[in-house]
Amino acid sequence: MSNLAEGLTFKRGLRLKNRLVVAPMTTKMSFFDGIVTNDEIDYYALRTGEVGAFITAAANVHKGGKGWDGELGVYDDRFIPGLSKLAAAIKKNHTKAILQLFHGGRMTDSKVLQGAQPVAPSAIAAERPAAETPRALVEEEIIEILESFKQATERAIKAGFDGVELHGANTYLIQQFFSPHSNRRTDDWGGSLEKRVKFIDDLVDGVTAVVDQSGVKDFIVGYRFSPEEYENPGIRLSDTLFLVDRLADKPLDYLHLSMSNYRNHSVSDEFKAKPIIEYINETINGRLPLIGVGDIRNGQDAKEVLATADLAAIGRAILIDPHWAQKVLDDQDHLIRTELSHYDRDELHISNGVWGFLEGMMPERLK
Ligand SMILES: Cc1cc2nc3c(=O)[nH]c(=O)nc-3n(C[C@H](O)[C@H](O)[C@H](O)COP(=O)(O)O)c2cc1C
Repeated sequence: MSNLAEGLTFKRGLRLKNRLVVAPMTTKMSFFDGIVTNDEIDYYALRTGEVGAFITAAANVHKGGKGWDGELGVYDDRFIPGLSKLAAAIKKNHTKAILQLFHGGRMTDSKVLQGAQPVAPSAIAAERPAAETPRALVEEEIIEILESFKQATERAIKAGFDGVELHGANTYLIQQFFSPHSNRRTDDWGGSLEKRVKFIDDLVDGVTAVVDQSGVKDFIVGYRFSPEEYENPGIRLSDTLFLVDRLADKPLDYLHLSMSNYRNHSVSDEFKAKPIIEYINETINGRLPLIGVGDIRNGQDAKEVLATADLAAIGRAILIDPHWAQKVLDDQDHLIRTELSHYDRDELHISNGVWGFLEGMMPERLK
């Protein structure tokens, strides 16, 4: 088991001062066009300096991939000055800044896209209320989106980030290419499992090549994924283990599991014997560091995650207590703030959109 306070050095040389990471969390605070706001900078500044790394909210790499209002943008050079401020704000006291790169695919709507139809691997709507049917991407557009991830990586380097994380989780575009629900293509980009992985293969190879050819020092590339889908057809844990095995041989610096609870077990009968994170860790077999996540509330939980992962990512607990990490590193779990009142909102720099999300997710913690 790794000690929470122990450092970790990634393949590309970047060193984290400890094993705690702020999980990527959208702030819904950027300007309408994706430019970072000063309120948003305050949100990050309040929570940084204690953890080893801080992964930003999802940042949109392409205009057609905007997921929601208030989302960060990285699809044009005009975002670089704001992103530079954001990177500088995070990089206090040796905390490393990772920009999460995102495309929403079918998980957006024409209102957010100002009249444009959402795009996806296939013209299949997501199974959620009021989901719009997307337009299937043509091959030239797929290549253009892959290019936009590479350009976003170049911008992250220019803005002074320490790395990028490819958001292949939570049902967004990258996952949509891997999913047999959203990807029903019959060309090179869909069909068999091997073909459904092509977009991810090209994406990871493209982005890591940009980093390695840029000459930047100590800049890392991570990949986030969700282990299963509930739709039928949908991604099963067996598919994910195939993907993880493949990604573990790529020139990536880490893999990051996305789960609501680190203790979760699979929905597949063949993988019920132990928690999902253990199957993932066994498949990686030491080839890359793994970040575990999901309902980590105190130091005890974080240590439990480090029994099967190399790093622990913390989301909501750090929204509620910006100094959660230092308390945990000091073994002061009893000092962690666990309750919120509406009067705390300004102090915590939490926007309306995110406050509502917290209320929905953790009503017992909100008074
Ligand atoms: C308000 C909020 C926003 C989130 N935004 C993102 C995001 O932009 N990208 C992402 O990969 N995950 C996002 N997540 C998921 C978190 O990274 C994390 O996996 C999840 O909250 C579970 O961790 P926790 O129990 O410590 O909060 C978000 C979660 C919350 C609560």
